[in-house]
Amino acid sequence: MKTRLFRKVCLLWAVLAVFPILAVAQELKPLELPKPQMDIGRPLMQVLKDRSTSRAFSAEKLPAQVLSNLLWAAFGVNRPESGKRTAPSAVNWQEIDIYVATADGLYVYDAKAHRLNPVLAEDIRAATGMQPFVKDAPVNLVYVADLAKTGRASSSDQELYTAADTGFIAQNVYLYCASEGLATVIRGSVDRAGLAKAMKLRPDQKITLAQTVGYPKK
Ligand SMILES: Cc1cc2nc3c(=O)[nH]c(=O)nc-3n(C[C@H](O)[C@H](O)[C@H](O)COP(=O)(O)O)c2cc1C
Repeated sequence: MKTRLFRKVCLLWAVLAVFPILAVAQELKPLELPKPQMDIGRPLMQVLKDRSTSRAFSAEKLPAQVLSNLLWAAFGVNRPESGKRTAPSAVNWQEIDIYVATADGLYVYDAKAHRLNPVLAEDIRAATGMQPFVKDAPVNLVYVADLAKTGRASSSDQELYTAADTGFIAQNVYLYCASEGLATVIRGSVDRAGLAKAMKLRPDQKITLAQTVGYPKK
């Protein structure tokens, strides 16, 4: 009798604890992204010539088409028959998730569906870095390694490969930005513990780097 009552109390607590998270996430709708445009872009050698870091961003929002192209270039599916992506990953783990922090809220990129799934209906841009521009730039990408996908790798391999895999994605973003006249900076200076808390990550999700993207400040 007592055990049953205890179970009921535990269940009630669990429901009460989870409900606000679900309620908040529900306010933010999934964002179906338009098809990425495959027929745009400047020649690779010119893009490489222009690739650079910039830390001066306009607050102007990125149109859905630009966000779509950016995320596909970053780590989209480029071979649907195998599900493989625009950036390589160790053992084809595909363990890096791209979280997208905007003024509207926090999303996570679902590459297979080419959609942004809602995570939090909260503007957490300020928590994505230590530098003042992060709170005003329209998009901060947060690269999160899902260690649950790294099999039996040792912790030193996990560290090396998740960092390397993030680097390939970040460079894709750099190249897309250079091609399209966008500003970007990859960032290691992140309060990872604070940000993980703000993003409500699981303990086996580790933030590697963050990357700000926007139009250049005029
Ligand atoms: C792993 C890594 C971490 C970085 N972290 C930061 C950072 O936290 N903040 C920042 O403003 N720039 C950061 N940068 C950008 C570098 O400062 C920049 O790439 C470097 O100055 C060279 O400039 P370039 O990218 O224009 O060639 C980082 C770059 C890398 C590769």
